[in-house]
Amino acid sequence: MDISCSTGISVNDEVRLQYLADIADRQAAKHEGDFMECGVYKGGTALLMAYALFRNKSSNVVHLLDAWEGMPSPGTEDAGTTIPAKFFSDSSEKEVKRLLKNHGLHSYANTRKGWFKDTLPKMRGPFSLVHIDCDLYAAVHECLSHILPRMSPGGLIVIDDYGDTDCRRFPGVQRATAESIADTDWVVTPLGGLRDQSILLSRTK
Ligand SMILES: C[S@@+](CC[C@H](N)C(=O)[O-])C[C@H]1O[C@@H](n2cnc3c(N)ncnc32)[C@H](O)[C@@H]1O
Repeated sequence: MDISCSTGISVNDEVRLQYLADIADRQAAKHEGDFMECGVYKGGTALLMAYALFRNKSSNVVHLLDAWEGMPSPGTEDAGTTIPAKFFSDSSEKEVKRLLKNHGLHSYANTRKGWFKDTLPKMRGPFSLVHIDCDLYAAVHECLSHILPRMSPGGLIVIDDYGDTDCRRFPGVQRATAESIADTDWVVTPLGGLRDQSILLSRTK
């Protein structure tokens, strides 16, 4: 099976997809815990994460959380964002399930439909990799608050739309991240990609 890092299904560019695929492969090989993605849309990045688990013959799965109702309204912390409410509404849980099935990866993934505030409390961890790709302050804050205490010892978090300092399409992501990791041992490493958009969160020790 070949899951290529093409931008056909994901909204992410190829550089970001390649970073995510490499990190997912490394984390899957450690067998330290489940994966999770917050913000799935059509399932392009979800597919890469499920494939890493398959490739490493993992007994872990990737939990895929999305409301599949389009984006919620931006808050005041997102002032300046160009992402309007209801954006990304042209996808569904059914479509993502079909995509995973067509690639023979459905046993490596669980979809969880609903707003993060309702689905995250059911997610226990430990997580060895979480991909946060939900663009807005409140959502990123909700995700990190729940996830940080539930990461495995070597767990990693990839956050999309953090950089993007040129056009500031997602100002809330950086702010939510900075607030969530203040006074913790989590640190930010830029990963590159289009406008340095994605970052890695890891622990210093
Ligand atoms: C940028 S898209 C995800 C892109 C996807 N990871 C990819 O590679 O193509 C953002 C997704 O986050 C979801 N989302 C944003 N805020 C959410 C929230 N509070 N609860 C549930 N889903 C949310 C939206 O429904 C949308 O599908």
